Amino acid sequence: MKGIILAGGNGSRLHPLTSVVTKQLLPVYDKPMIHYPLATLILAGIKDILIICKKGDDKLFKKLLGTGSEYGIKIQYKIQDNPNGIPEAFILGEEFIGDDSVCLALGDNIFHGHGLPELLQRGAEFVNTGGGAVIFGHHVKNPERYGIVKQGKWGKILNIEEKPKRPKSNCAVVGLYMYDNSVIEIAKNLKPSGRGETEITDVNREYLQNKKLRLIKFGRGYSWFDTGVADALLNASNYVQAIQNRQGLKISCIEETAHYM
Ligand code: TTP
Repeated sequence: MKGIILAGGNGSRLHPLTSVVTKQLLPVYDKPMIHYPLATLILAGIKDILIICKKGDDKLFKKLLGTGSEYGIKIQYKIQDNPNGIPEAFILGEEFIGDDSVCLALGDNIFHGHGLPELLQRGAEFVNTGGGAVIFGHHVKNPERYGIVKQGKWGKILNIEEKPKRPKSNCAVVGLYMYDNSVIEIAKNLKPSGRGETEITDVNREYLQNKKLRLIKFGRGYSWFDTGVADALLNASNYVQAIQNRQGLKISCIEETAHYM
């Protein structure tokens, strides 16, 4: 399975913080934000990673992470000219993905919790052995702000809606997705939504219609931060500080993660 980190976007909700610095290079306590999704992919067992970013930012990410050889992984870089939507990652990454499966991590999503490596590796194994897609869900207080997944009996996924006005559940789809190779063709056939971008929820709906979508839920012992707004960015920093200082153990330290794996 290949890995993609989507680290472009306008970061408009964080202006003026992101006016000249890309969101994914902002600090989350003691590390640049991109270290967190990078650690997530490494924990999933992925060694071949493509970072997609805006023109000009590739130089900065390269300066920070290089070829990845320091961490025993391979990192490549690709430019996204405009933030046309999350699924564009699979079109821009077509050559990189080749005939492999792929895990997409949004550059501003942070995960932490006991058993995270096993959960991620289970997702990758599902896709690598049985095909289809695996999405991850987490309970949230404000479901109208997220892609929301509704399950029925025996955990069967009934539907997924993007930012529903009347949410049918509190289970948000987090910014981490695993797909078989057909995601490239699915992404190519998407039409932009009302907000002018292609939507990852439409990709997931296609897998759902084909009965090839699985959900893995992060239980209440997990923390998930989507650091797209100032409060969430500060909360994530405070969380990392509190846990690290109490335990003396780092969250998403890529050197340690790479060594562990
Ligand atoms: P968003 O938070 O949806 O968008 P954004 O980062 O541009 O922020 P804002 O809405 O405040 O303008 O993006 C989620 C993540 O995906 C984030 O890390 C940026 C990345 N992204 C891209 O790299 N390219 C894209 O086309 C989109 C839509 C997002």
